[in-house]
Amino acid sequence: MGKKFLIVAVVVGVAVLFVSAGLYAGTEVKDLIPMNNKAYKKHEESIYTFKHKIHMTEYAEKYPDLYQLGCGECHHEQTEDKKKSIPLKDLKEGDEVKNCIECHKIAAYIATKERKKKKLKKKDVIRDYHANAVHANCSICHRKYNKKMKLKSKDKGYAPTKAKCKACHPKKK
Ligand code: HEC
Ligand code: HEC
Ligand code: HEC
Ligand code: HEC
Repeated sequence: MGKKFLIVAVVVGVAVLFVSAGLYAGTEVKDLIPMNNKAYKKHEESIYTFKHKIHMTEYAEKYPDLYQLGCGECHHEQTEDKKKSIPLKDLKEGDEVKNCIECHKIAAYIATKERKKKKLKKKDVIRDYHANAVHANCSICHRKYNKKMKLKSKDKGYAPTKAKCKACHPKKK
């Protein structure tokens, strides 16, 4: 093997690394994920650090009825027409996972009032807006959990639904 080939191979390898980092995807399963998506020009709310590991291990083992789709409760692919989600039920550690922003593309949050004023459907806003998609994901499961445990919003242990902004964003940035 020539020296020239080796150099080319190294350069290509490094380029591939950069390209994949730029694709907003990853295989590393982090314990804590600071939700500080770079697609936002500016974060208006304080950055929430998501406890990924406890959600995918401890909570999943403790509440199997809330995790019937496994990792697919939060991670999905989409149909070819990009209209429907396909839960990634068989996802496992080490698999490539796309960042939510790759499909829920608009880096912003549309509040309910604003959505109604603009006559947008809730479903379409979740489909298009990143923060609305993330909020919906957390809230759908937390609502089921609170109902199951008969927790009211002032109770200790209440899993925060979207309405509880301060539970996740204690202050404005
Ligand atoms: C309760 C929801 C939830 C569950 C359950 C969950 N994840 Fe995640 N995961 C997330 C969120 C939210 C992110 C951050 C995504 C983003 O920033 O766009 C993430 C990120 C990741 C990433 C990193 C992607 C990157 O951009 O670097 C990997 C890998 C991953 N998850 C794998 C898994 C696997 C494997 C499982 C199942 C064993 C799992 N997750 C279960 C919510 C979840
Ligand atoms: C490969 C593209 C893609 C990725 C990546 C993706 N989504 Fe979706 N998501 C979709 C599509 C398509 C829909 C379906 C929209 C509809 O049914 O109106 C959807 C629907 C949803 C919904 C509505 C309920 C449901 O499950 O259908 C939520 C909530 C959601 N996504 C949150 C997330 C979160 C959080 C992440 C990152 C952890 C994520 N999505 C990653 C494409 C994607
Ligand atoms: C598939 C179900 C599910 C999804 C999706 C989910 N959670 Fe949770 N979460 C739980 C359960 C169950 C608890 C309560 C566990 C307990 O107290 O035993 C919880 C508790 C919490 C708590 C309170 C306890 C703590 O860790 O501080 C926070 C905050 C939280 N989740 C954040 C989030 C965020 C942010 C998202 C969305 C990115 C999310 N969760 C999505 C299941 C889920
Ligand atoms: C369960 C936790 C949780 C709750 C409750 C919650 N958020 Fe969020 N919010 C998040 C996460 C996670 C993101 C994604 C940030 C990212 O990936 O960069 C986000 C993103 C946002 C963004 C876009 C990023 C920014 O800072 O500008 C806004 C605005 C926002 N939330 C406002 C609100 C408001 C207003 C409420 C109450 C009506 C609320 N959130 C409730 C977790 C939460």
